[in-house]
Amino acid sequence: MPNRMTLPLSAIAGAALLFVNVQTASANNVEEGAYLTAAAGCKACHTATEEGATPFAGGHALKTPFGVFYTPNITPDIQHGIGAWSDSDFLDALKRGIRPDGSHYFPSFPYTSYTKMTDEDALKIFAYLKSLSPIAEPNKEHDVSAPFSWRWVQSFWKILFFDEGEYLAPSGATDAVKRGGYLTNALGHCGECHTVRNAMGGFDNDLHFGGSGKEDPAGNVPNITPHASGIGDWSKGDLISFFETGMKPNFDDVQGEMAEVISEGTSKLTPEDRDAMAEYLLSLKPVQKPE
Ligand code: HEC
Ligand code: HEC
Repeated sequence: MPNRMTLPLSAIAGAALLFVNVQTASANNVEEGAYLTAAAGCKACHTATEEGATPFAGGHALKTPFGVFYTPNITPDIQHGIGAWSDSDFLDALKRGIRPDGSHYFPSFPYTSYTKMTDEDALKIFAYLKSLSPIAEPNKEHDVSAPFSWRWVQSFWKILFFDEGEYLAPSGATDAVKRGGYLTNALGHCGECHTVRNAMGGFDNDLHFGGSGKEDPAGNVPNITPHASGIGDWSKGDLISFFETGMKPNFDDVQGEMAEVISEGTSKLTPEDRDAMAEYLLSLKPVQKPE
């Protein structure tokens, strides 16, 4: 009799313990996902700029030389958001630029950088997004003219300019440089603004992080390689305090889109991660900023 009692009881206790472990693991994923989401700057793009707009509910207008793209709702609403998505739907979107219906995303969604994330980190971001309240906000149509509005054209763009695959650190990189390279390339998508593009919107990888010139549609974005036309005279400490506070070595405050990268992103990182990003930028090949 006692034996018949103890077996089921221990089984129940075991199951309960497993349940608790699973709960803790998913709580950790949500917490780590929140950190990664900040490092990846998802909120700035997926929140409308109007006062009181709900975070992650989309509607943010992105002006590009090809027209205006409106970001979609990425809250877990079943109808209007990504509430019905599976893990593989999410990985296909973020790392391959593929929609659940098999068509292509436009590269105004920086999947070109997010492809460099590990699946593990991408799924933590997904866990965090799923923990948010669902918002029933319909998506806005993009205001982009043909042929740039044709999703099928994107398959050619991808063949030319999209390199799928996780981040590979330069050989011989220190742990800090590896971490910094991952944070800036895979998560921070710093190159989406700081690397010049050709007329078709593909990156010029020889000028990685070299900024863009005045005539460039992206505007005059600074060179963030250690070149005289870039951050050649910034110390590591200068970079770290810039990432933390937005103050430049000449005491100017950061302006424009970079201000958001700092307030929503780099200022929320751990000191170790800011340190790693600074180490990485200073380890880059110096390139001349385009005129
Ligand atoms: C530079 C702006 C920008 C950033 C940063 C950005 N996105 Fe997006 N995202 C977009 C745009 C634009 C689209 C729509 C592209 C299209 O319609 O082809 C999109 C689409 C998506 C979709 C597809 C939604 C759907 O309904 O099909 C998901 C999911 C998504 N983004 C998640 C994220 C996550 C997670 C992050 C951060 C890791 C992120 N985005 C960062 C601009 C951005
Ligand atoms: C949405 C576009 C955008 C993204 C993404 C972006 N930046 Fe910037 N960044 C800018 C612009 C624009 C400026 C110029 C701001 C100013 O002059 O105040 C700037 C300025 C800077 C500066 C100061 C350079 C100088 O000479 O004044 C550094 C350093 C920098 N960014 C690093 C980064 C890093 C690292 C990332 C990724 C975590 C990043 N940026 C992501 C647009 C961006």
